[in-house]
Amino acid sequence: MPETNGNDGKPAPPAAPAAGNGNGAGNGGKVAAVVAGAKAVKTRAVEEMKGAIKAPEKTDLWKSVLRVKHDETPRSRALGVLSNVFLHLHPAKVNRDAVAYNYTWGMGGMTFYVYITLVFTGTLLMFYYHPSKVVAFRDILYLDSDVPFGKLLRNMHRWGAHLMVIMVELHMFRVFLTGSYKKPREFNWVVGVLLLVLTLLLSFTGYLLPDDQLGFWAVTVGTNMARATPLLGHGGPFGPQMGMTPFNDVRFGLLGGSIVDSNALLRAYIWHCVAIPIIASAFMVVHFWRVRKDGGISGPAPVVLESEIKEPRKI
Ligand code: HEM
Repeated sequence: MPETNGNDGKPAPPAAPAAGNGNGAGNGGKVAAVVAGAKAVKTRAVEEMKGAIKAPEKTDLWKSVLRVKHDETPRSRALGVLSNVFLHLHPAKVNRDAVAYNYTWGMGGMTFYVYITLVFTGTLLMFYYHPSKVVAFRDILYLDSDVPFGKLLRNMHRWGAHLMVIMVELHMFRVFLTGSYKKPREFNWVVGVLLLVLTLLLSFTGYLLPDDQLGFWAVTVGTNMARATPLLGHGGPFGPQMGMTPFNDVRFGLLGGSIVDSNALLRAYIWHCVAIPIIASAFMVVHFWRVRKDGGISGPAPVVLESEIKEPRKI
């Protein structure tokens, strides 16, 4: 097959006439042109890089992510928020006084932050823990003594859990103090109460998992209280009349048996690691969505942007 230049299979044209033996100055000219072209590209790249560092908002990359200007006018703020999925989570306008720490104490946000930390550390703990009577406590000892950073991981999860309970209560207290449970936020208060119950349940179900004496007896006492549930507990009002016995009442359902044993451990594990986190996460989404739909965080004053503040007139 004849040699081609890649153009329709036609033979390559003869090299351009050049002085000397035909290989020297002709090829040298081509190389020089290529080098000059590369230098020009490099210079342009350096200039573009400098420009991008100086004014990143003018680059195509920036514009492809943040599609509109983000200056201080109410219109471009609203457009900026609406056109970006991450900023979309925030309202276009926020009442400055409502987000002040001395108003919210930042407690709702911090509760959520601690919850995320708990989900993360809890997922890591799951790599080392088996919900079985035979090995659960041994896994905990192993985590405490042998797993690299295992003790730190376990303590982050345990202290985080205590912190979340304290924070959610403080958050509820501030919502009560600022009267934020009133119209139109009554529904969000109810969602909040559910979140409080779910937080307490997460804490309670986690307590049994180390399968130590503390957890065992805490869950024994806690589930014994379920005996006294009206209608559904065998020791509660009208329980016996409803046919409740230690082997079919609500306590039996919680423990998966009539004593705190391996079934109880497995049930606590599944509630703690799967069911309650899914339910709580869903309610948190609703909770945050309602904060927006109820007009943002309740606050002492209406929204005023910095650009809208008028200087007081000097007389
Ligand atoms: C897992 C638990 C909870 C999380 C993560 C959470 C998170 C939040 C966040 C981030 C806010 C925005 C304002 C702020 O930070 O203070 C908020 C507002 C609110 N929360 Fe919660 N919350 C939880 C539990 C509760 C509880 C237990 C209640 C009450 C029973 C409650 C009732 C409310 C109400 C009514 C608002 C609107 C307050 C306002 O507009 O000023 N929340 N929550």
